[in-house]
Amino acid sequence: MKKLRVLVAMHDVLVPPPDAESLPAKETWDYQMELDVLRGLRTLGHDVHVLGVGEELKPVRDAIADFVPHITFNILSDFHDVVTYEAHFVSFLELCKQPYTGCNPRGITLAGDKALSKQILAWHRIPVPAFAVFPLRSKTAKLPRKMTFPVIVKSAVQHGSAGIAQASVVHDDRELAERVEFLHRTLQTDVVVEQFLAGREFTVSVLGNERLESFPIWELWFDKLPEGNESIATSRVKWDEAYQQRVGLRTGRARDLPADVEQRIHTIAKRTYRALHLSGYARIDLRMDAEGRVYVIEANVNNDLTPGEDFPESAQSTGLDYPALLQRVLGAGLAYKPAWKVD
Ligand SMILES: Nc1ncnc2c1ncn2[C@@H]1O[C@H](COP(=O)(O)OP(=O)(O)O)[C@@H](O)[C@H]1O
Ligand SMILES: [Mg+2]
Repeated sequence: MKKLRVLVAMHDVLVPPPDAESLPAKETWDYQMELDVLRGLRTLGHDVHVLGVGEELKPVRDAIADFVPHITFNILSDFHDVVTYEAHFVSFLELCKQPYTGCNPRGITLAGDKALSKQILAWHRIPVPAFAVFPLRSKTAKLPRKMTFPVIVKSAVQHGSAGIAQASVVHDDRELAERVEFLHRTLQTDVVVEQFLAGREFTVSVLGNERLESFPIWELWFDKLPEGNESIATSRVKWDEAYQQRVGLRTGRARDLPADVEQRIHTIAKRTYRALHLSGYARIDLRMDAEGRVYVIEANVNNDLTPGEDFPESAQSTGLDYPALLQRVLGAGLAYKPAWKVD
């Protein structure tokens, strides 16, 4: 394997301190992915440089000019605290003719917008729940006729379950108007409202550019969900460890899916990846309705790569260990052909 100069771009506040390797896991939690990616890349024998990205672009240019990386391993997820600027940072790398891991700017923008992405998927006849958009400045929120309660109310652009709680699932116009107003006020983004799908939740990890590989279907379960709660990944489910234990959160390979359903889920995930022009790697979230029909909820580009998270776990279940997965991510990044590279 060729030894590469790899520049790892991450938030400056998430750059692991020099003694990070000797700290207990609960102290490194905030920058666990950064730490594990660095360790994994070093295990592979690459020449690794850390680039902490803050408010300035000049240090990025300087690092590219001085270190001459073969590739930038991009784990930066926003810029100036604006989540949609994630795409702009990658555009900057492309303008510097710098190869990078993960998704291209167009894919990031399309997948990052839960309204726009569903419009595109629907056009491709990829199943998505019925949805409506309530722009930030809109005053009224009434459910369109084609939809029925219950529905779930979400930010159009935030991820990581920001603004997702049990109260996101609403049952009448009053609850809907309240939740939409709450998200507009607290998150300052457009809001999407989707048909609530009461069944199982899956995620499929996909890797590649033109030729795609998908890893085994991963499922999310709750063993001890309190009576009356919906089985959804709220922000507490995602981020609050004590709560995860209380509700008996588990993830793992989806079981008992008929072979044709399994096949269909992989196909939907790959079609979604292509329809949204994704590259590098991504995780496609899906849910089943009460009748067993499968729908795409969203595509997560540049998803969490922390060991133990769905993408690395699902890859690991096929025998691909963590450094090998990072090597595959590098490989996809090097193989991707942005406009400046095409001859
Ligand atoms: N249409 C839906 N029906 C049922 N549950 C949903 C639906 N949309 C989202 N959810 C639940 O909310 C969670 C977060 O929604 P998602 O669209 O994936 O946003 P995020 O980008 O914050 O992960 C999902 O993992 C799922 O549990
Ligand atoms: Mg999600």
